[in-house]
Amino acid sequence: MNKKALEVLTKFDILFSQLWDISVDGMRLTDGNGIIVMVNDAYCKIVELEKDKMIGEPFSIVYHSKEQERVLNTYRRDVGNNEIKTHFERENTLWNGKKKWFGFSNSFLDLTGEGKYTLSIIKDITERKKAELELIESEKKFRMLFNNANDAVFVTQLTEGKTYGDFVEVNEIACNRLGYSKEEFLKLSPSAIVYPPFINDFNKYTQKLLEDSHVIYELTHMAKDKRLIPVEISSHLFTYEGLPMVLSIARDITVRKKTEEKLRRTGFRLRNLATHLQSIREEERTTIAREIHDELGQVLTVLKIQISLLANKLRDDQEELKDKIKSISDMIDGTVEKVQGITSKLRPDILDELGLIPAIEWQAQEFKKVTGINYSLTLLRDEVNLDNEKSTAIFRIFQEALTNIMRHSSATLVNISILKRERNLVLKIADNGIGINSKQEKDPKSLGLIGMKERAMIFGGEVTVEGIPGKGTEVTVEMPLGDN
Ligand SMILES: Nc1ncnc2c1ncn2[C@@H]1O[C@H](COP(=O)(O)OP(=O)(O)O)[C@@H](O)[C@H]1O
Ligand SMILES: [Mg+2]
Repeated sequence: MNKKALEVLTKFDILFSQLWDISVDGMRLTDGNGIIVMVNDAYCKIVELEKDKMIGEPFSIVYHSKEQERVLNTYRRDVGNNEIKTHFERENTLWNGKKKWFGFSNSFLDLTGEGKYTLSIIKDITERKKAELELIESEKKFRMLFNNANDAVFVTQLTEGKTYGDFVEVNEIACNRLGYSKEEFLKLSPSAIVYPPFINDFNKYTQKLLEDSHVIYELTHMAKDKRLIPVEISSHLFTYEGLPMVLSIARDITVRKKTEEKLRRTGFRLRNLATHLQSIREEERTTIAREIHDELGQVLTVLKIQISLLANKLRDDQEELKDKIKSISDMIDGTVEKVQGITSKLRPDILDELGLIPAIEWQAQEFKKVTGINYSLTLLRDEVNLDNEKSTAIFRIFQEALTNIMRHSSATLVNISILKRERNLVLKIADNGIGINSKQEKDPKSLGLIGMKERAMIFGGEVTVEGIPGKGTEVTVEMPLGDN
């Protein structure tokens, strides 16, 4: 060897030994039998064993006893076959029971004449491996979720102008529901599955998605065979490998929609029925009141006339008969009054003849006569423009409110007021009694209260009932003015 070559070799030696010492990767030199010739500090650290304990020992000494034989045999076999594995990753249990992942890079060193040596560079890759495995786990979980979801799931890319690009991924449910194969799906853009009359909604909610990063809305999808599917969509914006994406989950709400519609119709029918029954009831009351008034009233009037004619025919000395006739005539007057009472209870004439406000005034007076409870009245002096049915409804609500005061409140005073608020007529009936509590107010068995509310609702009005314990109860009726 010439001088130059020797110099280079010496320099290389120095370089190599520096590299050996400062390397963060573990380095290990083993002979053909797997006996450790040299290790660096980094290796000692990785395998958690001192240098002295390793030099001259089989390299398997760093592993757990149950692994030692296997790794050493494999090594010897490979070296014997001259085909050592150059790069691989493996999990081992160390001598102290700790499990670690290692990355190996092996190469044969042919130190002429001295047999075979293996240089191994060994990295502790436990952390990286853990992260990798976690990622795989979470990807697996995501896949499972994606494919086993009960809802259709779509992933879409957003293009530069923040409009939808094609579908990137769809699950099986989406394919089955909309009748496209996955290949067909991935060529479609999201608007292709939107039922055309809903395109504007779709665009509007896409805009909202871009602003808020997520959005939930209802839409109708159209399948390949033109079937319509009402869905509730929940969309989220997310970034995947630097690209803006949208994850959308579409729940089929056909059944929900049908149930809602059924419920709406049932409600509508019941309300119609209630309206119908109420108006029949009012009509019947009016007819009965009129018949009693006309038939009985006429008979009584005739009776009264006949009796007075009879009285005129009596002589002055028929004192006893005269008295009898007087008492019959008084009885007839009393009966006339009773008939009037009954007819006005059935349906007050005053409501039909003079309208709602005078009828309310009259009813309040009657209430005081019967119960002795005082009242104050604050009345609207303007004309109120209410049709007959609405007036009747308000009047009946008023009557029920007074009946409740009489039966439940122990009140001594009722404040009644009628005013106009915007386009509504507002009637307030406030007593100073014990006050209804919210349980009684909400009780589905409170049929009187429910009747009041329903009666108002039929005409787009509302009844609220509020009580303060010990202070009283206030019933408020709000009814839209004007004809229906
Ligand atoms: N003005 C009121 N003051 C106190 N409690 C009341 C008043 N109005 C109603 N309530 C309470 O609310 C309940 C329900 O009223 P309602 O539905 O009219 O049924 P009812 O009058 O047949 O008992 C009453 O039983 C009573 O306990
Ligand atoms: Mg009642």
